This record gives sequence, C-alpha cells and structure tokens, in this order.
Amino acid sequence: MTRKVAVFRTAHFNAAHRLNVPQWTDEQNKAYFGLCNNANYHGHNYELEVKVVGAVDEVSGYVIDMKVLKTFIDEEVIEAFDHKNLNLDVPDFASLNPSAENIVWVIWEKLRKRIDNQFELSVRLYETPRNFVEFNGK
Ligand code: NI
Repeated sequence: MTRKVAVFRTAHFNAAHRLNVPQWTDEQNKAYFGLCNNANYHGHNYELEVKVVGAVDEVSGYVIDMKVLKTFIDEEVIEAFDHKNLNLDVPDFASLNPSAENIVWVIWEKLRKRIDNQFELSVRLYETPRNFVEFNGK
C-alpha cells in the first residue's frame, strides 16, 4: 500500500525590505505599512518551512532526498535572498511589494520549478515568530 508522508525542511535568511505602494502618498504608505514603510529599509530574520508530500518509495524508504531538497532551497532562496535588500537586489521584487505574502509566493514558484509534480508543495514563511504566511499553490 502506498503511504503518503509529509516531509519538512527548514531554512532561514536575513533580508531587508521596504513596503511601499508607489501610487499612494507618503502619508497613506506610512499609515498603512507603519514601520515596514521606513524609507531607509529595515531587516527581518525570515524563517522558512518547506513541506513536501509524496509517496514513500518502497526501496529507499524516502519521499524525497532531503539533501536534494536542501540544495533546491539553497540555490533558489538562500543564495538569492540572504543578506540582500529585497527591493533593490532581487529582480522578483523590482515592481512587486516584498510583503511576506508576496515573498512566500515567489519562493513557492521558484521551488515548484525544481520539485517533481508528483509531490505536493507547501511553503510557510515566518517574518517574525508571530507573523507568518503559507502558500500551497492554490
Ligand atoms: Ni518589514
């Protein structure tokens, strides 16, 4: 019988960002985004949880090789985002507000391209220990 199991891999990165909507006035942006609108940017310690669901291989006993999953996360997320200014250094956010909601979507898109479609993929991103978002492609 095929058993489906969820496997998780965590990672973290530090990055700076600024939330700002160009079409809004400075006052509107400040009122809506608060500290995250600071003109000179600010940083977060982002924590990432990647969840992959799939059938357990009867020979290896694995769903997915975690070393391979780690490599995907390192190449697609950590190398692209860690110690970067998301607004200025990461092309994905050149015209996309780097909110946690948008960051988790960008990360999901990047990882989805690397992970075989037989697996379900869900990504959770903690901007702070109390604020976190999750995206599973739906
Ligand atoms: Ni912020």
